Amino acid sequence: MSGARERVLIDEARIAQRVGALAEEILGGLAFEPRSGASERDALVMIPVLTGALVFTADLIRRMPVPLSVKPLTIQSYPGRATSSQGATLRDPVPGGLSGRHVIVVDDILDSGATLALLRDRILEQGPASLRICVLLRKLKERAAPVEADFAGFDIPDEFVVGYGLDYDGLYRNLPDIRVLEGVG
Ligand code: IMP
Ligand code: MG
Repeated sequence: MSGARERVLIDEARIAQRVGALAEEILGGLAFEPRSGASERDALVMIPVLTGALVFTADLIRRMPVPLSVKPLTIQSYPGRATSSQGATLRDPVPGGLSGRHVIVVDDILDSGATLALLRDRILEQGPASLRICVLLRKLKERAAPVEADFAGFDIPDEFVVGYGLDYDGLYRNLPDIRVLEGVG
């Protein structure tokens, strides 16, 4: 890690404020009336893409007081010290039972789009009632895979970022803010 420098891009307070606003946007756009006391079958399904979306999802769902279930899966695209996408690899089966359900995929960052394009297509095969994609960060760049986020927290420059769930070689996920990692890759 020699030579790596960290520069704060988005501080904790801005993240918290924006996550709350995103939760409101999502709730405002729901195409159905979530009922309190609904069965799991009627609840919204949140699908966090681990490991990066762990922290974001934990904060987001606590700002969404509606019946929801959480069905995470692990997808890897930046193994080890890679700082560009190496193609998305599913590490877990895609959660089943999504037919007729309202599904929201939650990821930390939309970069090349490979991860979310793969997951979106696998979920659509199941015939959900709706599918929305929510990302905390969206890199401003050309995407290799055609995929759009329905909800995005922040548009950021095409730089390698860590913190608030995002890692470099497995580290930095526990930083409370988002930082640009300079001098790697
Ligand atoms: P994509 O498939 O290229 O869109 O990449 C998405 C995944 O790569 C994200 O879910 C992250 O886990 C990881 N990733 C992309 N950009 C960064 C970054 O700047 N820092 C850390 N991880 C990243
Ligand atoms: Mg990820």
